[in-house]
Parts: sequence; C-alpha cells; structure tokens
Amino acid sequence: MIVGVPKEIKTAEHRVALVPAGAESLVGDGHTVLVERGAGLGSGFADEAYAAAGASLVGGADEVWAKVEMIVKVKEPIEAEWPRMRRGQVIFTYFHFAASESLTRAVIGSGAIAIAYETVQLVTGELPLLTPMSEVAGRMAVQEGAKYLEKVFGGSGILLGGVPGVLPGEVLIIGGGVVGTNAAKMAAGLGARVTLLDVSLERLRYLADVLPANVDLLYSNRHNILEQLRQADLVIGAVLLPGAKAPHLVKRADLKLMKPGSVVVDVAVDQGGCIETIRPTTHEAPTYVVDGIIHYAVANMPGGVPRTSTLGLTNATFPYAKRLARLGWRQACKDDRALFLGLNIIDGKVVYPGVGEAFGLPVVDPQTLV
Ligand SMILES: NC(=O)c1ccc[n+]([C@@H]2O[C@H](COP(=O)([O-])OP(=O)(O)OC[C@H]3O[C@@H](n4cnc5c(N)ncnc54)[C@H](O)[C@@H]3O)[C@@H](O)[C@H]2O)c1
Repeated sequence: MIVGVPKEIKTAEHRVALVPAGAESLVGDGHTVLVERGAGLGSGFADEAYAAAGASLVGGADEVWAKVEMIVKVKEPIEAEWPRMRRGQVIFTYFHFAASESLTRAVIGSGAIAIAYETVQLVTGELPLLTPMSEVAGRMAVQEGAKYLEKVFGGSGILLGGVPGVLPGEVLIIGGGVVGTNAAKMAAGLGARVTLLDVSLERLRYLADVLPANVDLLYSNRHNILEQLRQADLVIGAVLLPGAKAPHLVKRADLKLMKPGSVVVDVAVDQGGCIETIRPTTHEAPTYVVDGIIHYAVANMPGGVPRTSTLGLTNATFPYAKRLARLGWRQACKDDRALFLGLNIIDGKVVYPGVGEAFGLPVVDPQTLV
C-alpha cells in the first residue's frame, strides 16, 4: 500500500502522525511511505530521519494526497484539505465529526473512508487513541499549575513540594479518570498533599490500590468540594460525562472560598469545563484571572509538548495503521472490533450513529459495507 503523511496545517499543531520508526516498519512490510517535507519538524523529526527510514520525501501536500491510498494524520482535515480527499482513500486521524457539520458533509462528498481515532474503542469501553492525550494533559496540568503558582506568574508563591520544615501545597483533583489519575501521580511525586474526588466508588477503590499514600480519595459531592476548595492551592478539573457537557461543579461564588493567587487548571474545558468561570484559552495566552484565582484552560494541552505527544499518540495509533496497511481497511476492520468502531463515514455514507444523530443524517449499518 502507499501510505501518506501530510504536514499538519491546523494553527499551532506541531504533532505528526507517523514517526521515522513507524515509517521504517511500514517500509519493511513492503509498503511505500510518502512524507511531506517538514512534516516531522515540529516534533523534532528531521526529513533526513524519514529518508533514512526508507520513506520518500515529497514537496507538497497536494502530491501526498493525490498519490496515496491511506492518509495518516493527527487533526481533522481543515477546509484547505477538503478538495484533496479522494473516493476510496482511507483517512485515519482524529475527526470529531459531531463538532463540525461542514467537515462531515465534506467527507461525505469526497467518498473517502474516514476512520476516526476518537471512536476506536476496546471491549472494556476504553478509547485507546484518546488515552495517551489524556495522560499528557493530566501530567501537564500539574506542571502548568505549579508554574502559575509562582509569584512572577501572579500566583500565591507556593512551591507544591514544600521544603523540610514547610508544609507542601494542596492539590485538589476533581475526577479520577485518565487525566485525574495522571495528575495525581505527578502531584504526589512532587510531594504535594493531594485529594482526588470521584463519584465512582469502584474507581476510588481501584485508585486506593494504585496511588501513593499522599493521595487522599474522597467521594465527590457538593459538600466535599466546598470543603476542599478552602485548602486547595491548585485545583484540577478532570471530570467527564461521556457524550455530555461537563457539569459545573465549582460555581463562580465558590471561588471566594479559595486563597488569592491559587490556580485552577480545568482540563475538561474541551467539554465545557467543570468550573463555571472557565472559557477556552490558547498556548499563546493560557491564563486569565477571575476573583483573584488564576484560570488555565488550554483546550489542546498536548499541543504544548508535541514531541512527547507525538510519541505517545503514535505508540497507540501505529499498530492500527500497520494493520490497515497490511490487510486493507475492510479486512482490518473485520478482524478487529475496536478498529471497526472507528469507522465513521464510508464512501459517502455515515456509519457511526453519533455522527448521524448530530446532524439528522441517515446512518447505514457498517456491516453491510465492509
Ligand atoms: N484540555 C485538553 O487538552 C485535554 C486533553 C485530554 C483530555 N481532556 C479532557 O479531560 C476530561 C477528562 O478526560 P479523561 O480521559 O480523564 O476522562 P475519564 O472518562 O477517564 O474520567 C472522567 C472521570 O470523571 C468522573 N466523574 C464524573 N462525574 C464526576 C463528578 N461529579 N465528580 C467527580 N468525578 C466525576 C468519572 O467517574 C471518571 O472517573 C475530558 O473532558 C477530556 O476531553 C482535555
């Protein structure tokens, strides 16, 4: 198969969908890999590294899209890329169709086969191609929170780990899924006092077994949240209600309970956030202040650390890309239920119920098309 890797052109996107090690593996399997020049640069992978891995470097995106049977990407195709999509071409990337009717209609019109990272799903319910980005965001939340607690960034001037003779900082994490657990590990590793809240007792029991002793686990309810806010130096929002907006668990009036110069990092901002006063920010201007509390709400946190994010993402996506190349999309999806669930649009037909529901489009059973 001919596999293509265009350079990501969405604003501030520095990740790349295939690293040189992946290119080498595909070439070793007998495939041809076309990489647009400069595609890996933002993640620290030079063109020469792809060439040494056996990939062919190509000058422009048009040529990559025109020549290949499968495109591997990171972000959804943006408008400039829509005319490049072709009938029968497999596009394996994050699509988030429900967020954009125009993208959905463009892919339908193209006749391409859209396999979306975000809906690939294991029997356990886990979304294996979203997990690595939640891991990055959870860990980064503590790093960013620690930074904005520094005086020069407007924070209260607290070192999360404290020093001998001085108490450490208090970190409150609301939501103990992938983001929350990774944040807890990082904060605990720094020596902070960590309290993690979740509504799932099963999850809390599991976390009690795997998290260090300086993480206290507490049932999430309004009473406990208010009590914890009074002590917290850093609050991390990490709640997810699948398929719904995040609930506002911290109201504007609650901020008055917090110490001035404390920091809120609401990772759940991409689902509306769990802090009422949160609104999305960017890496260029990541924070703003409400009632003396610093708010950090970057909607694509992994974009701030593209090297780590690219490696984490491709570790998860590559085995699927390799199978798609070896078997073709039909057989690869027949063989693997998780990948089958990644099918969103096939040759102009919507096959993923969530996408059809979002825009009132008819949904075809993918079994009839593979
Ligand atoms: N900003 C970013 O760059 C970025 C990156 C990755 C993920 N995210 C977002 O972070 C959020 C969390 O993702 P995740 O992968 O950890 O999800 P997850 O499903 O693994 O975890 C969510 C957790 O929230 C818990 N929860 C639900 N209601 C709660 C409540 N009322 N109080 C406390 N806990 C509650 C659930 O029990 C679950 O354990 C999502 O909105 C995700 O989209 C953002």
